[in-house]
Amino acid sequence: MSEARAAAVVRALRRATGYVRLYGPRHALTEEAVRETAAALDGLIGDRAGIMLGAADDTLFLDGHALGLISLQFNAFVREVLAAGIETVIATPPVSHADAAALVHLIAGEGGGPTGGSIVVNGAKGVAVAADDTTPVARLRRAYTRSLDALRGFGRSVVDGDPPTLEDTAAVVKDLLDKSLENPAATLLLSTVKSHHEYTFYHSVNTSILSLSLARLTGLPERDQVVLGIGAMLHDIGKIGVSRAVLQHPGRLDADQWAEIRRHPQLGAEAILRAAAPGEELAAVVAFEHHARFDGSGYPRLVYHDGTRHPHGEGGHHHGHGHGTGGRHPLHFYSRLVAVADTYDAITTRRSYRRAESPSRALQVLLAEAGRSYDPDFVTAFASMMGIYPPGTFLRLTSGAVVMVVSPSPDPGAMPAAVVVRDAAGNPVAAPEPVAFSARDIVDQVGPAALGLQPADVLESLPAGV
Ligand SMILES: [Fe+2]
Repeated sequence: MSEARAAAVVRALRRATGYVRLYGPRHALTEEAVRETAAALDGLIGDRAGIMLGAADDTLFLDGHALGLISLQFNAFVREVLAAGIETVIATPPVSHADAAALVHLIAGEGGGPTGGSIVVNGAKGVAVAADDTTPVARLRRAYTRSLDALRGFGRSVVDGDPPTLEDTAAVVKDLLDKSLENPAATLLLSTVKSHHEYTFYHSVNTSILSLSLARLTGLPERDQVVLGIGAMLHDIGKIGVSRAVLQHPGRLDADQWAEIRRHPQLGAEAILRAAAPGEELAAVVAFEHHARFDGSGYPRLVYHDGTRHPHGEGGHHHGHGHGTGGRHPLHFYSRLVAVADTYDAITTRRSYRRAESPSRALQVLLAEAGRSYDPDFVTAFASMMGIYPPGTFLRLTSGAVVMVVSPSPDPGAMPAAVVVRDAAGNPVAAPEPVAFSARDIVDQVGPAALGLQPADVLESLPAGV
């Protein structure tokens, strides 16, 4: 898999570049990461005469082919490479340690670039690579990277205390709405992208994509969908005010650390309110309420506008809207909708303290909590939108082949559309083809980690029309 080898190169380069900035070019950790970079480049070259890596706009290319998922996952690093004036890198074996080091230093802004010959770097006047914006998937990916940019920008303005605005966020949410209409199934697949490096931002974009897809089903007017999408996109922005040590704490949190985490809904809501134009205020409500639960549990504790409390825990299960509360609910329906999408993406993501659950397991968790933690109407709508086997689910069939679900089944009785990603012998399939199967053909589900494959990776190589 060239993609896996290319990802190894980018990961090693990013680590080495980070170490140069942190510890300097001579540090042992830097040297080790440079060695890994050279080895990863040799691994990518394999028995070829050489390779050319290119960067244009938001996209990395290997020998002219777009590396879609890698571009998305390493989006911030791609920007650094371009900012260093690098558009193409040609590497021939064996890649020397000195050239790998010089490339790293160049990206880190600490040197003039390789001179040895095993790596040749070209800047803006080098080989031109056209940005890939020709397919619905490429346009979606661009909308995704623009969303990451908007989040980074908004986060920076919060930290720096610049006059904040939701203009960029509103623009990217509109863009996501437009591009997802072109291909709703691909949009759901793209929302499975994960980044351990920038977990919160990728999680935020995914939550926004899933919330917008669900909001479309509710028949909400588009202008309101945008405000809801902004709220979903920025729901966790308050985490920027929570210390890194607490956010990345691997074990159980103590009382003080918990208290700090629990501030993020309010911090986020305040930042959004400062930035909101008239009509956008409800985005702040989403951030404020996204950890408050349907039954009144969660945080912060909410009260009705007349000052009475939600009857948390009383009467056990609540079904339907505001049972026993005269149809009132303290949580705005945007918040109840976004909470479902937020939870689904969080459960399907690997964290330092637990593994990623499969899409259908995440649906089970939501269904089990419907009427308690989550609004049952939105859970039901979400479950029917995703289907029994949500897009991105890997299934092993009796034939031994592994298939990936690419779009939900059109009706509850039918099997979803899927493509083959591993043949009966377990070998990777170069070009995934659609396959028909029945419920009896399914042996079990396979996690992405076990396959070494991500749903969004397959998305990039799907045949047209799937
Ligand atoms: Fe949160």
